[in-house]
Amino acid sequence: MIILKRPEEIEKIRVACQIVARILAEVSEKVKPGVTTFELDKLSEKLAKKQKAKPAFKGYRGYPYSLCTSVNAEVVHGLPSKTRVLNEGDIISLDFGVVKDGYYGDAAVTLPVGKVSEEAMALIEVTREALYRGIAKADPRHRLFDISHAIQSYVESHGFSVVREFVGHGIGRSLHESPQIPNFGKKGHGVRLKPGMVLAIEPMINQGVHEVEILADNWTAVTKDGKLSAHFEHTIAITEDGPEILTELE
Ligand code: MF3
Ligand code: CO
Repeated sequence: MIILKRPEEIEKIRVACQIVARILAEVSEKVKPGVTTFELDKLSEKLAKKQKAKPAFKGYRGYPYSLCTSVNAEVVHGLPSKTRVLNEGDIISLDFGVVKDGYYGDAAVTLPVGKVSEEAMALIEVTREALYRGIAKADPRHRLFDISHAIQSYVESHGFSVVREFVGHGIGRSLHESPQIPNFGKKGHGVRLKPGMVLAIEPMINQGVHEVEILADNWTAVTKDGKLSAHFEHTIAITEDGPEILTELE
C-alpha cells in the first residue's frame, strides 16, 4: 500500500528535504584531499542539530553514523572513519537524511575529490543524469517502472551497470515506505503513479559488473570487481503537473 500525502504533509517533507539539501551542500564543500570521512559525518551531525532536525540514519537498523560515506568501489552505506583520509582522485558518495517534525527527507550526491580521471567523471555525470531521466517520468501519466526503465536504459547505453540489491523507496513518516523503486525494469509496468506520492529515487551505478558484496563490517557494500560506483538520490513529490524535486536547493 502506497501512502498518499496531503499538501500539508508534503510541505513538512519539503522542510525536511531542504534541510537535507543545505547540509549536503555544506558538507560537499568540505570534500577535498586530506579530510577524513569521520569529519564529514561529524559536520553533518552538527548542522542537523543546529536545524533541530534528527539525522535519519543514526540508529536505523543499528547504523552507527549520521552520514554514509562511500569511497571509490564502495557502493552505499560506507562507514565514516577517522582513518579514511580522502585522496586526490577519489570519488565519494555522501548519503544523508533527516527527520523533522515527524517527516523524513533523503538525498545523496557523488563528488570528485580534487582532480579525478575522465572515466570517474563520466560515471558521476551519467549517474546524475540517470537520476534526472528517472525523475522526468515521475508524473501521473506514467507507471512506476517507467522511472526504473529510464534510468536503466540511459545507464546501460553508456556501458555502465545498475546495482540490483538496493532500490529507491517511498518516504514520509518513515524513511522507507512502499513502493520499492528498482533502478531497472520494464517500461509501462508497475503501479500507476499518482499525485501525492513521495518517492526517494536513487540510482547506484557501477563502472564494471553490477554485482556487489557486503564487507565484514556488515554495512559497506562494495563492487564485486573493485571498480568504481556512484550514487545520486533525490526525494520528489508527484503532482498533477509532474515531479517536484524536494531535495533540490531552493
Ligand atoms: N539513502 C539510503 C536509504 O534510503 C540510506 C540508508 S542508510 C541507513 O536506504 F543507515 F539508514 F540504512
Ligand atoms: Co534513500
